[in-house]
Amino acid sequence: MNNRDLRKVVLVGAGFVGMSYAFALLNQGVVDELTIINRSKDKALGEAMDLNHGLSYAPKDMKIKAGDYNDCKDADLVVITAGASQKTGETRLQLVNKNAKIIRQIVDQIMESGFNGILLVASNPVDIMSYVAWKQSGLESNKVIGSGTTLDTARLQYELSKYLDISSKSINAYIIGEHGDTEFPVWSNAYIGVKPLLDVIKEDEAYQYKDLEKIYTDVRDAAYQIIEKKKATYLGIGMALMRITKAIVDNENSILTVSVNPNGEFSMNNLYIGLPVIINRNGVRDVVSLNLTPRDKALLRKSEFVLKETIQSLED
Ligand code: 2OP
Repeated sequence: MNNRDLRKVVLVGAGFVGMSYAFALLNQGVVDELTIINRSKDKALGEAMDLNHGLSYAPKDMKIKAGDYNDCKDADLVVITAGASQKTGETRLQLVNKNAKIIRQIVDQIMESGFNGILLVASNPVDIMSYVAWKQSGLESNKVIGSGTTLDTARLQYELSKYLDISSKSINAYIIGEHGDTEFPVWSNAYIGVKPLLDVIKEDEAYQYKDLEKIYTDVRDAAYQIIEKKKATYLGIGMALMRITKAIVDNENSILTVSVNPNGEFSMNNLYIGLPVIINRNGVRDVVSLNLTPRDKALLRKSEFVLKETIQSLED
């Protein structure tokens, strides 16, 4: 927390994702100060004006302005949403070198300000961009986080909530791995309130395991579906970023499936990947270790392999 004890966030990128995030922050009163940086300063100025006009109806006061990289100096959190977005039929991994270049330039400018807070990356492919941001920043890896599979986890909880007719808040089921085509749900560690999901499915003939597989593929392919229909996804990720922000600025120690450097957890190193992580004001407190089935272990290896291969293909 900066010395004025205010929750101060800088957002880099005033596109659809950035502004959905900003709107979620305003609506839920998560921070005290939000500064928006954008390639076109006019766009940032316009967005700040527009948001400020909602303040009368927000749950609490918030200082919102357009700014520049100097504002990162005493920020608790800088959130990067800038970069090209996924086009119809394009995978998140195809975006890689285009966005790596953009992220490196942004991170250099953030670090030049003397920034020493938490860096949260949402630009896709998010696991790779988080890795690039970590390397470029020179920050400890606990301070660099990607949005990872937080959105996919929310999509899974929503689908399971509809299927079981139980509030998504009572569904502890998580997607881990790459935020992309190799992500997977950890069914063996999923709970409906107090009860293992697999027991719920086994004991009630209204439910079938094959429906879980369909829920999984629907969640995995949700972004493609949305992009086909409305060209981009931004509202869901805006909420996910708001949720991660809250966990950080409120020092929550909440468990969220963000993208992190596993630092040896699950025998993985030198990459960023979505895992269940305890998040607080220092960023990553710990990766939660899980007992994975042989199938889950193999799926995690597959995600690890794809991400490592992409890291190797990064141009300087
Ligand atoms: C999403 O999953 C495209 O990564 C974005 O909605």
